[in-house]
Amino acid sequence: MSKNNGNGRDERATNYDEMYRGQFHFSLRSGWLNDINGLWYNDGLYYMAYQTTPDSPAFSMEKCSMGLATSPDMVHWNERGVFLRPSELGSPGSGSTVVDLKNCSGLQRTDNPVFVTLYSGHTSGVCIAYSNDLGESWQSYPGNPVIPSPTFDPRDPHVFWHAATDRWVMAIYGPDNGNTSFYTSEDLKTWTFASKLMGFGFECPDIYELPVDGNGKNTKWVMMKASGKYIIGTFDGVEFKSEHAEHYDSVFGLHFYAAQSFYRDTFPDRRVVQIAWMGNWGAPFNTAPWNQCATFPAEMGLCTLSEGVRLTRKPIAEISRLYEWSKKWEPQTIAAGQNLLSGIQAQSYDLSVEIDLSRSATNAIEFWLPGKWVTYDVKNRTLMGKKLDSSGDRLKIRLLVDWSHLEVFGNEGEYYWSERLALPPGGGSDLKLAVGGNTELISMSLHKISSSWR
Ligand code: FRU
Repeated sequence: MSKNNGNGRDERATNYDEMYRGQFHFSLRSGWLNDINGLWYNDGLYYMAYQTTPDSPAFSMEKCSMGLATSPDMVHWNERGVFLRPSELGSPGSGSTVVDLKNCSGLQRTDNPVFVTLYSGHTSGVCIAYSNDLGESWQSYPGNPVIPSPTFDPRDPHVFWHAATDRWVMAIYGPDNGNTSFYTSEDLKTWTFASKLMGFGFECPDIYELPVDGNGKNTKWVMMKASGKYIIGTFDGVEFKSEHAEHYDSVFGLHFYAAQSFYRDTFPDRRVVQIAWMGNWGAPFNTAPWNQCATFPAEMGLCTLSEGVRLTRKPIAEISRLYEWSKKWEPQTIAAGQNLLSGIQAQSYDLSVEIDLSRSATNAIEFWLPGKWVTYDVKNRTLMGKKLDSSGDRLKIRLLVDWSHLEVFGNEGEYYWSERLALPPGGGSDLKLAVGGNTELISMSLHKISSSWR
């Protein structure tokens, strides 16, 4: 796995402690990271494939490759290296992976279930690579491309098993800007066009079914495009029908792209877990030979708000495996000028606050994460300028701070903000929770997070 640059220096070696290196957000030892691709589970291990431009902190479509990391818990990741490189099919663009338990593809050669990755060959179309040794080595299917698309349109297949129709379904971006198409297959190799969802789609679709308000008898389907915008509706194995015209935002800011959810059929529990590229094109290139990171894995849900059913996102519960120490505050009235977080310095932490707005007399609730203010405007009910209404006047804000990266969750997960390089490196001063008048704290907890790399 290691690469020597000829000067005796191992460019891939890292202690994961460089200036902007997140401690619990996945990043590469070296190279550029972009879209999250296949996410799947098999026999105690979670697998995450991703787009990478190896050996360069900058993206290159020509050198684009697919890499793999594995984890026992979705929290501690072990980088396994690049498994698909540019070939005569073009460089491997985004795609997804399924575990073909029933060997529908006929590609299984050992007792291991065969992993089948469908991706977009840049100059060829949808291609298959498969592994019979649990992801150690991958073979290219001789019949590639299985859906020709030499112009890279359509691209970015997301494949899943649709139990009700007993066959494989592919959602794919395109053809033509702004649409998503569906194909179906019995064997993952021969695909039949099923329908085109007009007016929704741009790169890397994700699609999954979720219970509404946790009620398994009332489920709806969610379709998301790379930006995180989504629609809710029905899917019968052929056609997705949206229940509304508007494309809802699941992300309010700033750095989030190409999210994928885990392949459902082998996932060990009922959760739908999604990971995205915490993408921003900003470097810093000069600090390290690696660039970009992934969002922290999130559990998705649907809940009924006053405006209707909406998607929710919460950090997966496994985050508690990283807690180094925790501090909890009793319910109390916080006075103007008082700082409950005084004396606390931390650079990686999970901070949750719940406030009763109906008994509070402050215009703003402000967090100082050394180097950045995060402000809730009580009058306008906005967090960092984006709507966060509080059901029953109870406001919940949860901040995941990871050195310079920030993810913010509001209420039951209906608010989400993701920002890479949000904070200057180094911390340096105490955390602060500032209010302008008496504020009723229902609860507050702070969990210091230890590095997931050790
Ligand atoms: C989205 C995207 C995909 C493409 C991939 C290449 O970020 O442009 O459409 O497959 O990146 O890395």
